[in-house]
Amino acid sequence: MSTTRFLTGITTTGTPHLGNFVGSIRPSVAASRQPGVQSFYFLADYHALIKCEDPQRVQRSTLEIAASWLAAGLDPEQVTFYRQSDIPEIPELTWLLTCVTGKGLLNRAHAYKAANDKNSAAGREADAGVTAGLFMYPLLMGADILLFNAHQVPVGRDQSQHIEMARAMASSFNHLYGAHFVLPEAAIDEHVAILPGLDGRKMSKSYDNTIPLFSTRAQLGRLIAGILTDSRAPGAPKQVEGSALFQIYQAFATPTETAALRQHYADGIAWGEVKQLLLDCVDQTIAPMRAQYQALLDDPARIEQTLLAGAERARALARPFMRELRGAVGLRSLVPAAQATAGAEVVEAAKAVKATKTGQPAFKQYREADGKFYFKLVAADGRLLLQSQGFAAPRQAGQAIAELHTGAGALPALASRLVPVDGVDAAEVMAALQALALGQPQPARK
Ligand code: TRP
Repeated sequence: MSTTRFLTGITTTGTPHLGNFVGSIRPSVAASRQPGVQSFYFLADYHALIKCEDPQRVQRSTLEIAASWLAAGLDPEQVTFYRQSDIPEIPELTWLLTCVTGKGLLNRAHAYKAANDKNSAAGREADAGVTAGLFMYPLLMGADILLFNAHQVPVGRDQSQHIEMARAMASSFNHLYGAHFVLPEAAIDEHVAILPGLDGRKMSKSYDNTIPLFSTRAQLGRLIAGILTDSRAPGAPKQVEGSALFQIYQAFATPTETAALRQHYADGIAWGEVKQLLLDCVDQTIAPMRAQYQALLDDPARIEQTLLAGAERARALARPFMRELRGAVGLRSLVPAAQATAGAEVVEAAKAVKATKTGQPAFKQYREADGKFYFKLVAADGRLLLQSQGFAAPRQAGQAIAELHTGAGALPALASRLVPVDGVDAAEVMAALQALALGQPQPARK
C-alpha cells in the first residue's frame, strides 16, 4: 500500500488572513481530500513560544487557527489534526535529534543568521537577544516531521531550508542507529497564489497589511476600500499587472470571472466598482464559512475535544515509534526485550499461552447499533479479556489495536479507552498481549 504522508505545521501567533487562506488553508484542505494521501496538520504552539511571549495571544491564536481550518472544511476524521504541545514525543525526539546534529548546521539556518547579521550591523554582539529556542527551531521542526515519517511537507519557499535540515538529521540518525526515518521532501506549490496586502506588498503579519479571513462583510468592505490603487480616473483604461485588487480577485474568482474583469480594466472600469466586485466575490467564498467559524469560536470545548482526539490518534503512532527510537539509541530496560514492558512472570505466561495448541488470543472489531466502532480481545478459549469504548471511526479502533499489538506496555496509555471487564486477571491480559506481540502479527485470527 503506497500512501503518501503529508505533514505541515501552522505557528500559532496570529489571526488567519486572506493570504493564509489562499496560500495554505485552502490548498491543504483540498490536498487532504485526495485519494492515497494521509495528512497530518498541526498547530505548532511550541514554535509559537519562540516568537511570542504573550500567553493570551498564543492561546487565542490556537483557537482561531483551529476554528479557521475546521470552518474551511478540514475533516478531522480524515486528517490527523492536533496540537503540537499535546504530543510529548515531539520534545523527546527533539533531544535525540539534537544529539546527532552538528551545531554548525544550525549556525547556517537563515533565521538565525539574519538575527546575527542584524546584531552585527547594529554593532552588537552577534547573539544579542537570540534565544536558544530560536537557534533550536530547526530541531523542533525536524522532530515534528520525522516523528510521523512524513514523505511530503507542504511549506512556503521560506521554509525549504528547514526541510533540508530535517533530511540531514534523519540521515545522520539513520547512519548511526539504522534506518528508522523517512527522508522528507518539501512540497512547494508554485501555482499557489501569493496575495498582495493592503499596501501592495505581500500580505503578511509582519507588514501589518493583512485582511483577516473572518472579518464581517462590513469590515471586509472597509478594508478592501483601503487597498492601494493608482490614480487613473473612471473611464481610463487600467492595467491588471501590479493591481492588488486584480490579484486578490483572481485568487477567489473563476477563470471566466477573471477574464471578464480583465476586459473591464481595459474598458476603463472605475476603481470603486472593482472594489465592489472584489467585495462580492470574496464575501461569496467566506460567508458560508463565517457562520461555522463563529459557532466554533463560541464553543471552544468542541475544538479542544477535536484536538485531543487528534492528539490521541497521533500518539497511537508516536508512542510505539518513540519506544523503537529509544531502544535504538540504547535508552533501554536493563532486562531483555520482552521483559522490558512486562514482568518476568508475564513473559513466562506469554510463552505458555503461545505454546498451547488451542490457538491464540485475538482482537475482534465490530460496530454497534450506536454507530460506533468497538474492539475486544478474546482469549483462545473465547473468554473476554479486554473491551474497548466506542470509537467514532474504525481507523481509531484500528490504531488502538495496532498499539496493543506492540505489547502490554501500550496498556496504560490506552486505559481511558477501555471498559473494565469483570473477573479478568490483569496478568492474563498482559500475557495475552505479550504473546501477540511476540509472535503473531495478524490482528484477528479465527
Ligand atoms: N516553521 C513553520 C512556519 O513557520 C511551521 C512549522 C513548524 C512547520 N513545524 C513544522 C511546517 C513542521 C512544516 C512542518 O511556517
